[in-house]
Amino acid sequence: MKSVYITRREIFNAAHKLWNENWSDEKNEKVFGKCSNRNWHGHNFTILVTVKGVPNPDTGFVINLTDLSQIIKDKVIEPMDHKNLNLDVPFMAGKLASTENMVIEIWDQIKDSIMIAGGELAKIKLIETENNFVEYFGGSEPY
Ligand code: NI
Repeated sequence: MKSVYITRREIFNAAHKLWNENWSDEKNEKVFGKCSNRNWHGHNFTILVTVKGVPNPDTGFVINLTDLSQIIKDKVIEPMDHKNLNLDVPFMAGKLASTENMVIEIWDQIKDSIMIAGGELAKIKLIETENNFVEYFGGSEPY
């Protein structure tokens, strides 16, 4: 059985602020720099969702990209696009709105739907700027 990795790209934009409530204003400004700006700032995010699987003999598809696109739109774009990640997005509530935390939460939002659609979520890449991006492959460390 030969597995193939297939990727769907979507885009959204959102506002956020990086801020740790347990720290002083000075420490927040020192650690987070411009991202600590009180009155928010935004990014144009690109998300790349990669699904692994063996091509279906009837379709030749690992997953139907129309289905994958719809899952990302329903679970990620709809709740996050044009939103404030700190205030408006239920699954980010109480979490520092870093790309690292975003990608972990997004994984949990789409994993089961992708499995139901017949694929296995293999990787999410979240690009915040052309120079800064994160990748998550699921799983966790034993601590
Ligand atoms: Ni930012």
